[in-house]
Amino acid sequence: MKVFEKLVLPNGSQILNRIAKAAMEENMADLDQAPSKQLMRLYQAWADGGVGLIITGNVMVDRRAMTGPGGVVLEDEQHLDTFKRWATIARSQGAQVWLQINHPGRQMQSNLGQQTWAPSAVALDLGKMSDRFNVPVEMTEDMINEVIQRFANTARLAEKAGFTGVEIHAAHGYLLSQFLSPLSNQRKDRWGGSLENRARILIEIVQAVRAVVSPHFVVAVKLNSADFQRGGFSAEDAQQVIQMLNGLAVDLVELSGGSYEAPAMQGQSRDGRTLAREAYFLEFAQEIRKVAHMPIMVTGGIRRKQVAEKVIASGVDMVGIATALAIDPNLPNEWKQGQNTAPELQPITWKNKTLASLANMATVKFQLRKLSLGKQPNPRVSPLWALILQQAAMSRRTRQYKNRMRQYSVAS
Ligand SMILES: Cc1cc2nc3c(=O)[nH]c(=O)nc-3n(C[C@H](O)[C@H](O)[C@H](O)COP(=O)(O)O)c2cc1C
Repeated sequence: MKVFEKLVLPNGSQILNRIAKAAMEENMADLDQAPSKQLMRLYQAWADGGVGLIITGNVMVDRRAMTGPGGVVLEDEQHLDTFKRWATIARSQGAQVWLQINHPGRQMQSNLGQQTWAPSAVALDLGKMSDRFNVPVEMTEDMINEVIQRFANTARLAEKAGFTGVEIHAAHGYLLSQFLSPLSNQRKDRWGGSLENRARILIEIVQAVRAVVSPHFVVAVKLNSADFQRGGFSAEDAQQVIQMLNGLAVDLVELSGGSYEAPAMQGQSRDGRTLAREAYFLEFAQEIRKVAHMPIMVTGGIRRKQVAEKVIASGVDMVGIATALAIDPNLPNEWKQGQNTAPELQPITWKNKTLASLANMATVKFQLRKLSLGKQPNPRVSPLWALILQQAAMSRRTRQYKNRMRQYSVAS
């Protein structure tokens, strides 16, 4: 298989080529937490750049539970027309466009002023930065059922808005990933303990989503190939979860890895198997490929055409690219025309891994912001400067979010 060959998904729909824009949270919602004009401009750039698939940055299923301020929320029809415009723009050159749907669980900053839900009352351990996060409340059965219904509701609305699919975010230490990991899920009921129990919420969400969308609407899952924490969700667990998903109508699984506590998705895992600098989850993906009935996509570290070709030639169905497409949204067109463009940011060699990870995110978001304003990205930006700008933007966005939530609670 080649990078510019189409892929037919289990539901019969097609993806024009094997390159996907992986999800990147943009924090560019308007004050109503709907897509802003800047966000639309950003997606126009990706649509025009030639990717076969665009996965949106994570969109929240509950406005009280945010991965960050300025995040997009889809929980009712109030701003459906704006979502329709977003989908139309992103699909304008023939790409499939999937809304990534997410709930942060305990990975929600305490300064947003919301109650934090998680499978168990186990706080995040981020060293000196741990106090930025609340000790979560252990979810009741009702809360779990509410979250399942919210994922289904957001997926139904995504189809109504014209997206071609959804990707359920079960990776990177967010709520569904917290349920999967025995470190964060210490429940003794049917939602914890055995892997079957820990995966129950994900399985029930996939089933609930499938029940409310049409068969030609794509349902995909983003899963960690491993959490990279001792005693956490392992590569063997990931294989078994894939086997559980085999029995359901899942059209693709995207493999990534890590969490806030161990940000392996940014290539910083200390695990020997992932030391390869590029396509760092490829070995896992090849193992998982052997048991998966659905197509597999691997994301992380891919920025060179030769690497993308190697990944596809190895039997993995799609490559997911985030950072390189934030620097150069036109990358697929350039590769197709025979250029070997390989966008790259300055390496961040800070000792504090949590800060380095934040700086990396900020440097990528800096590029997203440039694109959203119709400007040229600047991959040489100083990570420290990008981090300062990002922190300032987040403080402003946090104030706006809190004001808005106060208005909601007064109105309701
Ligand atoms: C700024 C930024 C925001 C991200 N937001 C999301 C997100 O919303 N959902 C998600 O699944 N992954 C998110 N990721 C992770 C990427 O999808 C991807 O897994 C990771 O960046 C590794 O791929 P890359 O090496 O091509 O950047 C984000 C990454 C960055 C840099």
